[in-house]
Amino acid sequence: MATVTFDKATRVYPGTEKPAVDQLEIDIADGEFLVLVGPSGCGKSTSLRMLAGLEDVNGGAIRIGDRDVTHLPPKDRDIAMVFQNYALYPHMTVAQNMGFALKIAGVNKTDIRTKVEEAAKILDLTEYLDRKPKALSGGQRQRVAMGRAIVREPQVFLMDEPLSNLDAKLRVQTRTQIAGLQRRLGVTTVYVTHDQVEAMTMGDRVAVLKGGLLQQVDSPRNMYDKPANLFVAGFIGSPAMNLVEVPITDGGVKFGNSVVPVERTALTEAANQGDTHVVVGCRPEHFDIVENSGTELAKDDPSGAAGLAVTVNVVEELGADGYIYGTAEVNGETKDLVVRVGGRQIPEKGATLHVVPRAGETHVFATSTGERLSD
Ligand SMILES: Nc1ncnc2c1ncn2[C@@H]1O[C@H](COP(=O)(O)OP(=O)(O)OP(=O)(O)O)[C@@H](O)[C@H]1O
Ligand SMILES: [Mg+2]
Repeated sequence: MATVTFDKATRVYPGTEKPAVDQLEIDIADGEFLVLVGPSGCGKSTSLRMLAGLEDVNGGAIRIGDRDVTHLPPKDRDIAMVFQNYALYPHMTVAQNMGFALKIAGVNKTDIRTKVEEAAKILDLTEYLDRKPKALSGGQRQRVAMGRAIVREPQVFLMDEPLSNLDAKLRVQTRTQIAGLQRRLGVTTVYVTHDQVEAMTMGDRVAVLKGGLLQQVDSPRNMYDKPANLFVAGFIGSPAMNLVEVPITDGGVKFGNSVVPVERTALTEAANQGDTHVVVGCRPEHFDIVENSGTELAKDDPSGAAGLAVTVNVVEELGADGYIYGTAEVNGETKDLVVRVGGRQIPEKGATLHVVPRAGETHVFATSTGERLSD
């Protein structure tokens, strides 16, 4: 087992100018499950392939434990990789597929058999060891690919979208199995996916990339509670965080007919940067629904309506709760908003709800830089 360090690792593909991965800096702890996530083309596979030794590193360094592996060939790095198209050898049995790397490495037959049987037990593949891959389900094939990596007892597992060939239900099952397996084996793992739900449910920590640049690396909880910038705020969470640009007023920001109190320091910082507006973020579950009149908030409001009026366009009922997809006029512009409501308070399509972001649950970002300003 080992730590993994990306030390300002940079990859510039020949014939291109912009780095595909630009000075990536991540310290991964021994035994940690780190997930690299981001939209297509953001540099996830390139980062993983640099660590595997399949891609040249044009700047910075990569270390596994205290070994500088930046220029070592893949075979000398003590890693095992599971790819998206796990391409099992069709003419070999499951046992032969799993033991193949060991056979190439000259390990004796008895030892190979022992290691393969151990891995098969862990992966629940014992009864399939003599079958050919074509006689297995997608999920079982995926586990054989995992088995090939496990028998090598590497210092680090690398996985590039290993679940993308599975259907939705199997993906969910298998991601739990992989996360559980990794915890039991305790092998440092770097896992690539474009699916933020997969990232949030599997990783000890998640690293979000965009355009080759690391945006934030944090625990799933912190990533959700304190996204570092607008990109992460919009990328992590489903349905996504509502993000609305609003003018700064005395003591808060103007959100429709209400003044929503937000952290004073965040507004001071925005003003110091010369911004007159900030972007306020509110997750769907952090809106309070307010009565139409007679409330404290409605007092100063000539129209008598407190909060932001949201017209309900689509209602998604999920039983325990529901999501309202609606539109609202915010400072003269029509904005799409998503609001979570309790399962017994689902409004009708076409109805109007009045909502206010819950105090203490808002996020403030600078309009000019997109960086987080609130605590
Ligand atoms: N061999 C190559 N030559 C030139 N550019 C490349 C090469 N491979 C990848 N790129 C570019 O580098 C960037 C990062 O690619 P990469 O494959 O790392 O993205 P990714 O995050 O894994 O995307 P996806 O989710 O689609 O797999 C992209 O802009 C891609 O077009
Ligand atoms: Mg990729």
